[in-house]
Order: sequence, then C-alpha cells, then structure tokens
Amino acid sequence: MSAAIIDGKAFAAGLREKVAGLVPAFEAAAGRKPGLAVVIVGEDPASQVYVRSKGKATEASGMASFTHKLPAETSEEALLDLVRQLNADGAVDGILVQLPLPRHINEQRVIATIDPDKDVDGFHVVNVGRLATGLNGFVPCTPLGCLMLLEDRLGDLSGLNAVVIGRSNIVGKPMAQLLLSKSCTVTIAHSRTKDLPALCRTADILVAAVGRPEMVKRDWIKPGATVIDVGINRIDNGEGGTKLVGDVDFAEASEAAGAVTPVPGGVGPMTIAVLLRNTLVSAYRRAGVPLDKGTI
Ligand code: GUN
Repeated sequence: MSAAIIDGKAFAAGLREKVAGLVPAFEAAAGRKPGLAVVIVGEDPASQVYVRSKGKATEASGMASFTHKLPAETSEEALLDLVRQLNADGAVDGILVQLPLPRHINEQRVIATIDPDKDVDGFHVVNVGRLATGLNGFVPCTPLGCLMLLEDRLGDLSGLNAVVIGRSNIVGKPMAQLLLSKSCTVTIAHSRTKDLPALCRTADILVAAVGRPEMVKRDWIKPGATVIDVGINRIDNGEGGTKLVGDVDFAEASEAAGAVTPVPGGVGPMTIAVLLRNTLVSAYRRAGVPLDKGTI
C-alpha cells in the first residue's frame, strides 16, 4: 500500500492567501492594518531564522510586522516592560515572544504578562483554559495546523481513535484537547508509556511530536491510519552532510498508512500560516469587525 502524501506546503499557501484576502476588508473597516509584534531575545540561530520568516510572511499577507530584537543579556524586567508596552499598543493585535528565552528569564512569567486577547501563540493559561473548556480563544499554531490538515483529509473526526505521542504544552497537550473537542477518543503517550507500538496500532489518527528522529515504524501504524509528523530533526545524511527528518520513518509509514505528512513540507509550513490566521482573527475581534464563524 502506498500512502497519500498530505501536502502541508500547498495547504499553508492556500491559508495564507485566504488571510491576505481578508486583510483589505479589515483595513477598510478599522482604518489600519492588522499588526503582529514578534520579540526575540538573544542570538539563537534557529530562532533568528523563524523570526525572520514570520516577519516576511506577515508583510507578504498585507499585515504590519513589528520585530523587536533584544540582546541576550536583556533583563526579565525590561522584557516584561516591552510586553506591557505592546499590550497597550492599539496597532498590535498579536504578540509572540519567541521561545526559548535565555535561562535568566522566566518564560512562564513572560507568557503570563501577555494580554490573553493578543496571545496569538495560545500559550497563556487563560487561552489554555479556554481551549480546555470549549471557549473562544487562541489555540497554539502547530496543533491547530495539524487539525486543519486532518479535517481537510478526513472530514468529520468524531469517534476516531487518536494517539498523540508527546505531552508538551506547545504541541502534545493542545493537540489532544483539539482532537477531544472534535469527539475523538484521545490517548496521550509519552516516555513512560508501556508498549508504545501496540498503543499506536490502535490509532486511526497518529500524531508524533516527540523530537526523536524516525521513531515511528511501519508496524506501529494501523493499516490505513492518518499519520501527522510534527518532528523536525536534523540528522547525519551519511554523506558528510545533514538532512531533516521527522519523528516518523517516512518510507516505512508510506507502506502502512492511508495518509502521512512529509518532513519537510508537511506540518512545518502550517505553523506560520496559522500564526497569520490567528493574528487576523485577533484584529477582527479587537476592532469589533464581524468575521463569520467558519470564514477562516
Ligand atoms: N519556538 C518554537 N516554536 C515556537 C512557537 O510556536 N512560538 C513561540 N513563541 N516560540 C517558539
């Protein structure tokens, strides 16, 4: 059997186009562009790449991008002051503080200082609580992107068995909440789970978000299952260079699954597209401009 490949890159491009298409109506109603502020502290190369692409994508969609680059030795208080300033800034609809932060800064304190109604990452406990209780809020971008790909592929998810491998606050836990909200029967697996392959074989939907290169093998996958690979791992390519692989052994999964996301080109491109979508939704909400449910 050869699995269908879920083209996250194409889906993300479509979502970004949809976002861009909804910017002019907002601008006409509110008299300004939707705005996203991104804050980066320090010189982490991967974070710098992410922040640059977020800024570029924001501008490409017609929204305003405000990037704040702070030196690694910035004090926690100075960062909190900037966050408070962005909370108060009417031109800013979304605030994203790039993680990880330098060790001397308490991430939880920073996230707790972001206005929950500008928290387009969905990391604030108020948004975590909203997701858990079914209230309208912001949902973390990567798991929401995974859900969009799943619903596009499968339609109604209700009654399906879903296994999420990984229990992080950024992916695993919100992914499980989202699948539960769509009436899946959800299990969260983690490093202490017993007989992980057997558990995974019960899954109609298998989401891997652990950061272990090519961990999920063919015999972990129920024939015909939909497999979502959130992992991005750089490994040796055996020829003196490196390559990107996911948490799923893609070649093996392709022989068992009904559909699978590739790495790169699967979940990765969805994260920024959903960030733009969350920022647009925030702008509409904050300005009181109506946006019909289901529009985006
Ligand atoms: N670092 C890695 N992924 C993310 C993300 O989704 N949001 C933020 N703020 N930082 C990250």
